[in-house]
Amino acid sequence: MKMLPASGPVMGKDFFNREEEIKDLLRLLERENIVLISPRRYGKTSLMRELGRRLSERGQLCLFLDVMHIDAPEDFVIELATAAFDVTNVRKKFAKSLKGAFIRLSTLFDEIEATVAGTGIKVKFRKGLNDEIGKDNWTEKGKNIFDAIKSMSNEKPIYVVIDELSECINNMIKRKKNAKKFLQWFRSIRQQTIQDLRFVVGGSVSFDRVVRGIPGLPLINDFKRVCVECFSREDALKFIEKGFIEEEIEYREEIGVKIVECIGEPYVPFFTAIFLRMTLQEAGAHITKEIIEEAYNSKLLGAQGKGYFEHYKERLRIYYDEIMAKAAKWILKKACVDDRGIPKQLAFNLFREATGTVDEERFVDLLYDLENDFYIKFDGENIRFQSKVLRDWWRLYHV
Ligand SMILES: Nc1ncnc2c1ncn2[C@@H]1O[C@H](COP(=O)(O)OP(=O)(O)OP(=O)(O)O)[C@@H](O)[C@H]1O
Ligand SMILES: [Mg+2]
Repeated sequence: MKMLPASGPVMGKDFFNREEEIKDLLRLLERENIVLISPRRYGKTSLMRELGRRLSERGQLCLFLDVMHIDAPEDFVIELATAAFDVTNVRKKFAKSLKGAFIRLSTLFDEIEATVAGTGIKVKFRKGLNDEIGKDNWTEKGKNIFDAIKSMSNEKPIYVVIDELSECINNMIKRKKNAKKFLQWFRSIRQQTIQDLRFVVGGSVSFDRVVRGIPGLPLINDFKRVCVECFSREDALKFIEKGFIEEEIEYREEIGVKIVECIGEPYVPFFTAIFLRMTLQEAGAHITKEIIEEAYNSKLLGAQGKGYFEHYKERLRIYYDEIMAKAAKWILKKACVDDRGIPKQLAFNLFREATGTVDEERFVDLLYDLENDFYIKFDGENIRFQSKVLRDWWRLYHV
């Protein structure tokens, strides 16, 4: 069996559809910087990577950074320089432009200009930057790095794609590492470089919640917000059919329909992809609806699926303060029982009991966070789980 990719981001031939989204993004990027908004696993990273691939194909320079584990501005700046350094065909140009600003590293830059490739040089480069960039000079050094990036290509704009920026900022806030100063600096960089650089940023925790920790600052309002949606039913069916064809297993419409019914709305690309993979692994020459139902219950909702869902519970612990996490768990526990969910009033009663407060504003914030983080959605006066598959999992393991 050819291995269908199921967990990491996908690109190129594995990247399914999203043509409209890519077209829209390319049009918006003519003028604006973009923040991609979506819950986890909707396919943001894949979309960003594919966008980068297409831009590179057209001869545009595109840098890609994943800043998930960065928790200090100086490390962000080093990561940025490393992403630029990784574009090997213009590395020498980049190094040459950095030379004036990093005088202590000039012999290293001479070496870079003289060498062709090798990981040794990259290690030396990061080490050199680590020695030279610290908490007192990162704003200035960061600006120098952006200036050097601008000189890497005459084809403007140059694109800088930053994945998991909201996590990065959340990390800075948690570790008290100058998040506010970082956001102010980054905003001023965007203002100064609007002719030459275009930014696409994303993250899987809500930006709004993260920057709420730094009150009153419209530090990311200049980004055009673009929501990444799930697959439509039609796309999910086409995606499944494509998987069957690639695996040379006979496809019947009723099989596709059964798979999308198990996943349920919204058709989260990730859940669709892993469940498709599981069913294809089960499939002999003849796959039936019963086999699919069985795979759903025993595999996706069984031990194999655990790793895919656990983080939804974990993130309550990591990103919510203790008392709010407790209220969230109480609400979710009740909301998963029925697919219509529970009335908001009942949720408020649970909130009151769990937290011991009647602060309605905090309650509304909590619901808003749970909505942004993909647990619930509003449905008239009710709140209910956003996704059928997550609700099924929650009901199994948390009730
Ligand atoms: N366009 C697509 N075509 C095919 N599969 C996709 C597509 N987008 C997403 N997927 C599937 O969903 C999975 C998750 O995608 P991706 O990592 O891009 O999502 P994400 O939104 O960045 O997730 P996270 O929030 O965890 O960072 C991929 O491994 C792939 O299986
Ligand atoms: Mg991602």
